[in-house]
Amino acid sequence: MARKLWGGRFTKRTDPVVERFTSSIAVDHRLAKHDVIGSIAHAKMLGACRIIPTRDARRLVSGLQQILRRIERGQFHPDPAAEDIHTQIHTMLRRRVGPVAEKLQTARSRNDQVALDLRLYARDVVTRLSRGLARAQRGLVALADRAHEVVIPGYTHLQRAQPVLLAHHLLAYVEMLERDQERLQDARRRLDTLPLGAVALAGTSLPINRSKVAKLLGFSRVADNSMDAVSDRDFVVELLADSALTAAHLSRLAEDLILWATEEFGIITLDDAVATGSSLMPQKKNPDVLELIRGQAGQAFGGLMELLTMLKGLPLSYNRDLQWDKAVFFRVTDGVMDALEAMDCVVRHVHLRREGIRRLLSHDAICATDLAEQLVTRGVAFQRAHEIVGRLVRSCEREGKRLGELSLAELRRFSPRFDEAARRRLDPRRSVELKQSWGSTNPRLVRQAIARWKRQLTSNRLV
Ligand code: ARG
Repeated sequence: MARKLWGGRFTKRTDPVVERFTSSIAVDHRLAKHDVIGSIAHAKMLGACRIIPTRDARRLVSGLQQILRRIERGQFHPDPAAEDIHTQIHTMLRRRVGPVAEKLQTARSRNDQVALDLRLYARDVVTRLSRGLARAQRGLVALADRAHEVVIPGYTHLQRAQPVLLAHHLLAYVEMLERDQERLQDARRRLDTLPLGAVALAGTSLPINRSKVAKLLGFSRVADNSMDAVSDRDFVVELLADSALTAAHLSRLAEDLILWATEEFGIITLDDAVATGSSLMPQKKNPDVLELIRGQAGQAFGGLMELLTMLKGLPLSYNRDLQWDKAVFFRVTDGVMDALEAMDCVVRHVHLRREGIRRLLSHDAICATDLAEQLVTRGVAFQRAHEIVGRLVRSCEREGKRLGELSLAELRRFSPRFDEAARRRLDPRRSVELKQSWGSTNPRLVRQAIARWKRQLTSNRLV
């Protein structure tokens, strides 16, 4: 049975219901490694500052290192009888080094300890999320590269709008994920503050050296206010918000791919390896993975709300409410990492339906804007040109004709400024080729963007 880290003033045993309700080991055992690493730095500092004899510090460090090796070998198992991870590690240490273990909690409380553990864990989360994002970005760029020559209808209001390169559409998501990367790096800067040494809330009368601990653990600053240090969970909120936005981006991408994989759109098919079937309808091939990604976004949004709500009424400084931060943090960040991995897997298994895509482009007035812009080059005011082409479209609709079927003479009935060049504008391929503004779907610019992303995503990024 794990000992408690408190109990001197208590005369009765804790009620089992209370034991069960207050215990967090089932969740915070995931902080085992971080807890031990933090304790090693703390023990070294206690020795170096002569707060405990150096010999004792050395025994603590060697006991903790044995525990760390166990954890790293996967031989650590949460003890359901322990109140939390800090208690379990303490019990394990005591078993190894004896009563000297009791010196480790000098000038430290579980309040600053858990704040440290969580920051150390959050640093790992940032690294892992950032890698997951980069991998998903690379998958999208690879698909964009494969799809570079492919023109599809671009949509607004889910109505066909103007021709775009499929690659351009995909690179829009690479941009979104890049902003997610930037937000993570930004959060990482604020994570870089050591809370340890705040102790319970007020600091300590013992001569600790916080900068030394910060250096040992790779933090570039120490927290300036002990009460803030034990109460602050802003970094968890930030990472949940960042995760929520990534989840929203993945959900939108999932929705696009789901639409594209329908018979109605016919732009892609999913490889059998990433599709699922129906237990009833033998012909079905379903995009369940994408639906699960889309459906999972709510978990991240809810998690962000959960934590903000937990925090909003808390008086300073530490309150046990804060214990709930870990379950939501682990759940949401695990979910987003899984979703990134699953999305990357699907994207790498997309087949393009080039025939189906050609069919999509042949049937409508998707080049109407190009026609209007052509008139502008012949000196017609844009709104006037808009009106002329609008009437042209209406007349085609009435007569069941396509714009491309109209002769030059027929076009001229709507404006004398139409010439042969105008008829050549009714080609989706030319439509994208004639784009020239920066950031447009022009194939040369998109090709450059693909090359730029490839360079950027292979060069050693800050992870
Ligand atoms: N399990 C606690 C948490 O996650 C650790 C800190 C407990 N501190 C306390 N004073 N009860 O927040």
